[in-house]
Amino acid sequence: MSHVFPRHTKYTLPMVTRGEGVYLYDQAGKQYFDASGGAAVSCLGHGDPDVIDAIKTQLDAIAYAHTSFFTSDPAEQLAEKLIAHAPDGIDRVYMVSGGSEAMEAALKLARQYFVEIGEPQRRHIIARKQSYHGNTLGVLAVGGNEWRRAPFSPLMVETTHISPCFEYRGKQAGETIFEYGQRVANELEEEIHRLGTDAVIAFVAEPVVGATAGAVPAVEGYFKRVREICDQYGVLLILDEVMCGMGRTGTLFASEQEDVRPDIIGIAKGLGAGYQPIGAMLCSGEIYAAIENGSGFFQHGHTYIGHPTACAAALAVLTKLTDGGLVQNCATIGDKLQDALQLAFGQHLNIGDIRGRGLFRGIEIVQDRETKRPFDPSRMIHKSLKKEAFNAGLACYPMGGTVDGVSGDHILLAPPFIMDESHIDEIVSKLTTTFAKVL
Ligand SMILES: Cc1ncc(COP(=O)(O)O)c(C=O)c1O
Repeated sequence: MSHVFPRHTKYTLPMVTRGEGVYLYDQAGKQYFDASGGAAVSCLGHGDPDVIDAIKTQLDAIAYAHTSFFTSDPAEQLAEKLIAHAPDGIDRVYMVSGGSEAMEAALKLARQYFVEIGEPQRRHIIARKQSYHGNTLGVLAVGGNEWRRAPFSPLMVETTHISPCFEYRGKQAGETIFEYGQRVANELEEEIHRLGTDAVIAFVAEPVVGATAGAVPAVEGYFKRVREICDQYGVLLILDEVMCGMGRTGTLFASEQEDVRPDIIGIAKGLGAGYQPIGAMLCSGEIYAAIENGSGFFQHGHTYIGHPTACAAALAVLTKLTDGGLVQNCATIGDKLQDALQLAFGQHLNIGDIRGRGLFRGIEIVQDRETKRPFDPSRMIHKSLKKEAFNAGLACYPMGGTVDGVSGDHILLAPPFIMDESHIDEIVSKLTTTFAKVL
């Protein structure tokens, strides 16, 4: 009998025993194509020798030292490399152990920034419906996914949520794509007015929405308008790139494609590529200066921040993503994957939309293509899809609640950047089998 507290008590899971490239193997020797990278984590696939070597070398030197006593070479080098590739104005890196921690640090830093610069009356965070920013209480409150929030709502700090930028679901007839983006961006301004024009700390958004809606990029002009509004009211723009960052959408930072300047960015997942648990919060030089010239310290911290072994792994990952050309491969092969999915399933009666960027793709399942009506949530279509795909040897990431947190189903695909064209055929053929069984 197991003493592990599992994610779900009703399922018996196979035991994973090894990974090699794009494949995972269970104890019975069954092979699975890892088309979800866990949850958009394993961007380098499994068993990467360079990352493993970097970890071993670091373990031989020093595994861990507390950041109140020491800095470390891998932390310094990782920060330098991240900043060299980060959007303009981003100047400092605070390393944590995962995505929720990165976003918690982002929220606390944003609040402390205003305390430091003498605007302590700023107390509201605005985020978007159908977003996910992590599972710890602070970021769970900021996330806009009703199903995840509901049981814990009495414990949550008040956050308000505006509409997401979700063209397939939100654009009205008679509205251009650009007009739609401006309309939903302008909800931010309305919300700032409602809360008080000097009372808002930050707006938080995922540049490409991940798990909750299935790889949904914003439309052109949306983030530019958001930035304008933030500038007008002195509100910080916090971009959550925990899932969509680190090359996943075809550029190292997803926000590069929006041509927008964030004040704070959260990253994780692909940063460690699964070889070590690591995330980071990056902030602008201006925010850092407010702390440096004010109290002198960020009132935050965890035991494992700046963990040398985790940083060494992340540095090796980042080197492969950038100097090794894997982000570029992700962009190129990602376009080909989109074309193949479109060709295979673009006319499928139960597939409403195929979207995303790079190797971050979403397939939205509907009961009726014409009306976009989703399946009845009680049918749990996403669960059957996950099960049948897994049986077919494909690990993908289906989820429900795509439309409003309750109804709707989608499949998220986030395969490793090392995949090649033959793997596209494998994904398409295993999805074909899956759809034939479930839809
Ligand atoms: C956009 C986004 N933010 C934050 C998180 C939380 O990250 P973690 O699970 O590493 O705490 C996730 C995880 O899926 C995510 O997708």
